[in-house]
Amino acid sequence: MCGIVAAVGVDGNVLPAVIHGLKTLEYRGYDSAGVAIVSDGAIQVRRRTGKIAVLEEDLGQNGLPASPMALAHTRWATHGAPEDRNAHPHRDHLDKVVIVHNGIIENYAELRTDLQDAGHEFTSDTDTEVLANLVASLLEEHEGDLHAAIQSSLQRVHGAYALVAASSECANSIVVARHDSPLVVGIGEELTCAASDMPALLGLTRDFLVLENGETAVLTPHSCQIFDPNNQPVSRDIQHCDWTPEQAEKGGYPHFMLKEIEEQPDVLARTAFDRLHDAEGDVVFESEFGLEDQALCRFSRLRFMAMGTSFHSALLGKQFLEEFAQLPGDVLNASEFLYSPKLKEGDALTVIISQSGETADSLRAMREVQSRGGKVLGICNVRGSTLDREADHVLLTHCGPEVGVASTKAFFGQLTALYLLALRVGRARKVLSKEQGLALLSDLRHLRPKLDSLFSDEAEEAVRTAADILATVDSCLFLGRGFNHPIAMEGALKLKEISYIHAEGYPAGEMKHGPIALIDESFPVVAIATPGKTYEKMVSNIEEVRARSGKVVAVAAEGDQKVAQLADATLFVPKVPEHLSPLVNVIPLQQLSYEVANRLGKDVDQPRNLAKSVTVE
Ligand code: AGP
Repeated sequence: MCGIVAAVGVDGNVLPAVIHGLKTLEYRGYDSAGVAIVSDGAIQVRRRTGKIAVLEEDLGQNGLPASPMALAHTRWATHGAPEDRNAHPHRDHLDKVVIVHNGIIENYAELRTDLQDAGHEFTSDTDTEVLANLVASLLEEHEGDLHAAIQSSLQRVHGAYALVAASSECANSIVVARHDSPLVVGIGEELTCAASDMPALLGLTRDFLVLENGETAVLTPHSCQIFDPNNQPVSRDIQHCDWTPEQAEKGGYPHFMLKEIEEQPDVLARTAFDRLHDAEGDVVFESEFGLEDQALCRFSRLRFMAMGTSFHSALLGKQFLEEFAQLPGDVLNASEFLYSPKLKEGDALTVIISQSGETADSLRAMREVQSRGGKVLGICNVRGSTLDREADHVLLTHCGPEVGVASTKAFFGQLTALYLLALRVGRARKVLSKEQGLALLSDLRHLRPKLDSLFSDEAEEAVRTAADILATVDSCLFLGRGFNHPIAMEGALKLKEISYIHAEGYPAGEMKHGPIALIDESFPVVAIATPGKTYEKMVSNIEEVRARSGKVVAVAAEGDQKVAQLADATLFVPKVPEHLSPLVNVIPLQQLSYEVANRLGKDVDQPRNLAKSVTVE
C-alpha cells in the first residue's frame, strides 16, 4: 500500500525526518517514491521509480533547499504503471497545488475529462493528478483557501483517500483529509506532522491525533485544527503511543520478520500477563472491551471474521470458544461475508480480527454487521486504527509494531487474545469453573519459559535441515488436525507468501480425499504431529506419505522418537497442553518459511505484490 509522511515546522529542514519516516513505511510495499516542498512561492518536487534509496541519490545530485515543510510518498501502483511521471507528489498544471494521496478516486476519469475541457493539462495516468487539478480549479472560488478548496473537491469525488496537500501560496501550513484510508496527525515540538501509519512519525513525536472518516484538518507548526464533513471544528484528545522509534526499527536483526518471530515470547507477556486474574481464575480486560458477564451470556454464538493470517487465528478463536465456553462459533472470510445473503443479526456477537485494523474487507464486514444492528468486537494490534475506533468493543493485542509484511507476532498475539476471550466467556457463562480457569491461566503463564527451546542452536539446525527439503521444491502440503489444522494453513501461507513456493494447508483428514494424488518424491509434506487427540491419526498420515515416497517434515514433541524415525526432518517443540499447541507449533513453521525464503534470496520483509495492510478490496 502507499505511504504518506508530511511535516510542517517553524523553521529548519524537515526533509531528512520526512524521508526517514518514509523508510519506516517501506514494509507496506511500493514501486516509487517522491517528495515536495514549497519554497519562495514555488512548489518543488523530486520523484523517482524504485526504492527510496534511488530518490535519495537523486536528491544528492539534484537537491532541494532546506524547507520547514515537506510532503513525501511511497506509491504502490494502482492507476498508471510505475514510472517517474506517475510517482507522487502530483501538482496541478499551473503548479498551484501539490498533493500526496493514498487510496483510489473511483470517478477520476469523468473528473479528468471535465478538467481537460476546462483547459487543464495532464502528464500522468494517475487519479491523484486529477485531484490536484480539481483542488486548484476551486482555489480561486475559495479565495485561495486551500482547506475550503479541498473540502469542496472532496464533495465531488467518490472513493477512498488519505491525502496531504499544500499550496504554493503558503509554506507554513498543510491540509490533510481521510476517507476509508488511514491517516494520523503527530503533534511535535514546534512541528506538526502527518502519516499513513504511526511508526513513520515516531522519530518526530509520540503524541497523535487520529482523523475519523470524512474529516479534514489544517496543520501549522503550532496547531492542528480538525473539521468534520460539515466544516465544524472538532476537538479530539491526543493519544500517546508508547512505541519507541527503536521498537519500530530492526534492532540489529537482518529482517523485521526474524525480529518479530523472536519477540513472540515477549508478546505472550504483553498480550496476556496484565490481564490474568488468578484470584477468580479469570481474566480482566480494559474498559474498551465493554462486555460484562450479562452481555456475554446474552450472545447465543460468536461469529469470527477476518482475512489472511487473521482468518487462521479466527479458526482457532472458534475452537478455543467451543473448548472453554461450550459456545458455538462461526468463522467467515470477511470478503465472502460481504456477498452472502443479508440475514438478521440476531443475538450474535461478531468478532473482527485484524492486525492492522485497516483491512478493507474486514472493515466493510464490520460496517455491514453494524448496519444490520449487530455488535462488533474488534481484536486489533494498532491503537487508533479504524477497527479500534469504529468497533463497538475492542481487545488490543499490544504486540508492538509489526513491520514485516508476513504476520508472525501479531498472529501469536491474536491467538493469545482469543485464548483469553474464550476463557472470559466460559467464566462469564459459568461453564468454566474457577478451578478450570485457574488451570488454563497457569498453562498460559508457564508457557513462556518453554518457548525458549524454540530459539536454541539445535532448533535452528533442525530448521535448516527441514529447509533443505522445501527450498528446492515447487509445491508442498501442510497437514494438521484439530487445533493444528489452522496452524497447517498458516504455515502454508507463510511459506508461499515469502518464498513464492506453492503450499497448501489442509486438515490432515482430507489428505486421502484428493491431495494424496500429488505425493511423490518431489512433493513433500509438513505434518504437525504433537500430543493430543489426533496424534495417532497424524502418525498414520505420515506413514501414508512415506509409503508414496513423499518426504516428511514433522513437527513433534521433544523426545518423540516415534515420529522422528518416520520423518526426514523433525522440528521438535516443547510438550504443552493440546490447547496451547497452536501457539507453540506455529513458531518453527514461521522459522522454516523465513529460512527457505532467505535462502532463496527473496525480499523477506517486503514480498513481491504484497502489502502489509490491504486497504483496498
Ligand atoms: C499475513 O502474513 C498476510 N500478510 C496477510 O494475509 C494478512 O494477514 C491479511 O492481509 C490480514 O491483515 P490484517 O490482520 O491486518 O487484517
